[in-house]
Amino acid sequence: MKTYSIAVIPGDGIGADVTDAAWSVLQVAARTCGFALNGTEFPWSCAFYKETGRMMPEDGIETLRAFDAILLGAVGWPAEVPDSVSLHGLLLPIRKAFVQYANIRPHRLLPGVQGPLRAEKFDILCIRENTEGEYSGAGGRVHQGTVDEVAVETSIFTRTGVERILRFGFEQARARRGRLASVTKSNAQKYSMVFWDEITAELSAEYPDVEVSSYHIDAMAARMVMAPESLDVVVASNLFGDILTDLGAAIQGGLGFAASANINPQRSAPSMFEPVHGSAPDIAALGIANPIAAIWSGAMMLDHLGEKDVAVRIIAAIEAATARGIGIFPGRDRTETITNGIIAALS
Ligand code: IPM
Ligand code: MN
Repeated sequence: MKTYSIAVIPGDGIGADVTDAAWSVLQVAARTCGFALNGTEFPWSCAFYKETGRMMPEDGIETLRAFDAILLGAVGWPAEVPDSVSLHGLLLPIRKAFVQYANIRPHRLLPGVQGPLRAEKFDILCIRENTEGEYSGAGGRVHQGTVDEVAVETSIFTRTGVERILRFGFEQARARRGRLASVTKSNAQKYSMVFWDEITAELSAEYPDVEVSSYHIDAMAARMVMAPESLDVVVASNLFGDILTDLGAAIQGGLGFAASANINPQRSAPSMFEPVHGSAPDIAALGIANPIAAIWSGAMMLDHLGEKDVAVRIIAAIEAATARGIGIFPGRDRTETITNGIIAALS
């Protein structure tokens, strides 16, 4: 039987709850579709850090490289480990080391979900640059603790990095409704963002079938609230994409519904699938986290692995469950109830 080997990293807080949920849905889906998922769980997390002084072992990246994909829950337990340490010790190095340069985040209302907006029909695919830009990690601090203290954090935009994410955006737009919105802040940031706009214009000549528009990030934030139905594919830099996708999650009814895929389009290393939400320490281990974002992310994993029919079936099962009112009222249904509702809808 065809078997995929999956590295499972539940991480911290509700990461464990939602990863368990996603894993059980994926197992059922795989079984009924004639392939197997062989999971290997890694306890890498803030608890692991407290024990070992590292978020993952020194050879963690090399260990993960052998897998077909990575399923991740959430990382962060700020009461014990600063977020700047935990995220730079696990999530962000994986995205960079495995050249997962395209972070794909779909934003649309699931059936039955009441979003905060009047708009009911929108279907936005945010594509976030995921390896450089504002998250490059280039910088430093000097004169620490004195009045002369200075902190510098440099955004790095390379032609390779910008061109490949924009190309990815154009391709996605081509495969959808043919519209690409490229987001910058080139009226204020005159080097990197003008560079991004120029590359957008250059590439648009190669994609005459895609209608491309450039927006400033502030205007895009407003548009996502006022006219989300006018958007198809939205492509943005790392930080801008981060912010816009929390906004995207909000307009789709909350972070419990926002899925994401960190894709290495060249397939030179494994891709990683995780919900947009964090570890939510306040509700950790209570069994009330919404697993829909994680389950949807798991469907994106199967899609990436080539099991497109199963991915479509899982998303249809999520939709069937939410249409019946399961998982759509914040805090009402337990994680297990939602998971079982989706599994029931699968068969
Ligand atoms: C996300 C998260 C991460 C990010 C954090 C936890 C570093 O907010 O995946 O959106 O900013 O990329
Ligand atoms: Mn985020």
